[in-house]
Amino acid sequence: MVLMRTFLLLLLLDFFLVLFCAQKKTPMKSSHIASWPKCQQNTSVANIPGFQTLPQHIKDFLYYRHCRHFPMLLDVPDKCGGADKSGEVFLLLVIKSSPGNYERREVLRKTWGEERLHNGVWIRRIFISGTTDSGFEKERLNKLLELEQREHNDILQWDFSDTFYNLTLKQILFLEWMERNCPNARFLLNGDDDVFANTDNMVEYLQGLKDNDGRQHLFTGHLIQNVGPIRGNNSKYYIPVQVHEADSYPPYCGGAGYLLSHYTALVIYKMSKSINLLPIDDVYMGMCLAKAGLGPVSHMGFKTAGLYIPSKKADLYDPCYYKDFLLVHRFLPARMYFMWHKIHDPNLKCGDSSNH
Ligand SMILES: *[C@@H]1O[C@H](CO)[C@@H](O)[C@H](O)[C@H]1NC(C)=O
Ligand SMILES: *[C@@H]1O[C@H](CO)[C@@H](O)[C@H](O)[C@H]1NC(C)=O
Ligand SMILES: *[C@@H]1O[C@H](CO)[C@@H](O)[C@H](O)[C@H]1NC(C)=O
Repeated sequence: MVLMRTFLLLLLLDFFLVLFCAQKKTPMKSSHIASWPKCQQNTSVANIPGFQTLPQHIKDFLYYRHCRHFPMLLDVPDKCGGADKSGEVFLLLVIKSSPGNYERREVLRKTWGEERLHNGVWIRRIFISGTTDSGFEKERLNKLLELEQREHNDILQWDFSDTFYNLTLKQILFLEWMERNCPNARFLLNGDDDVFANTDNMVEYLQGLKDNDGRQHLFTGHLIQNVGPIRGNNSKYYIPVQVHEADSYPPYCGGAGYLLSHYTALVIYKMSKSINLLPIDDVYMGMCLAKAGLGPVSHMGFKTAGLYIPSKKADLYDPCYYKDFLLVHRFLPARMYFMWHKIHDPNLKCGDSSNH
């Protein structure tokens, strides 16, 4: 009897403890995280023919391929003003970033990623991140993100290893978050933290669509088609048959940056639930689209393979080349800052050949 009572008391205590923890939102303490059930590695993948000959990162990928839920370390649940009001966000910038990329985040906050009203509609920003390093360095980087969060409220972070091969996982975790917190944001730009995105032009392009409430299918960027897995193991994009058997990929848009509607984002999320993860995130988006019977379309404003500059003597960073694009690959932070200001300079004169 006494034992029973102690047991009940403990149960009650536990209950209140859980309530207390649930109420304490961000930032969560690491002790709390440690108590989450960890996704176990799938040891039977070692029986796949040829498994032992695969490079370590592929082995790792196969061991953890089925893991899709990771504890959230940083959250901004009201980024879109709540699920119901999220339709008031016209363009949500969803930027893939790793904890160490502090300078890139800082410059984006001051340039194309600035949260603002443009042409009468709202642009909002979110960085999506995992964790990197281990031990003290991991702690330090997590603290850094926490500090940034305090000032900017723009980071979603999950406790998984932020590697190139986990980018698809990052996307899926984001889509899950979006379905819950931001399902009606009209359009999304999904991209890297080192691209130059002309978000003013993007808003204007999207506003010019016949239907611009985000309820129709839209997926556009730098279209890549008629390609398949790279089977040579010295490539960053190496995909052995043990990961993807088919010799072709469906059409997709280069992952440096593409635009999509919330309708399409939610369809992709739904499809992803029954498609095995593929480490290459942009191809995976294409696979989800294909499964839904949808496809990406090409937009000439996305130059993820770089710009074609007609003359060798021309200035690679002449703002006139960048004014009319939607997205260009790879900019260092200082160049980003400078270019963003240059293309907004009211005295900038373009259009005549003397400038090029
Ligand atoms: C584990 O791997 C085996 C071999 O690839 C696969 O058949 C099985 O479905 C996997 N289990 C889970 C939980 O993903
Ligand atoms: C890459 O492939 C070659 C030839 O098949 C093989 O000899 C080598 O061990 C492989 N390297 C790795 C890291 O798997
Ligand atoms: C992805 O993240 C999980 C969780 O941190 C980790 O166990 C796994 O090794 C990572 N996968 C790759 C391929 O980096």
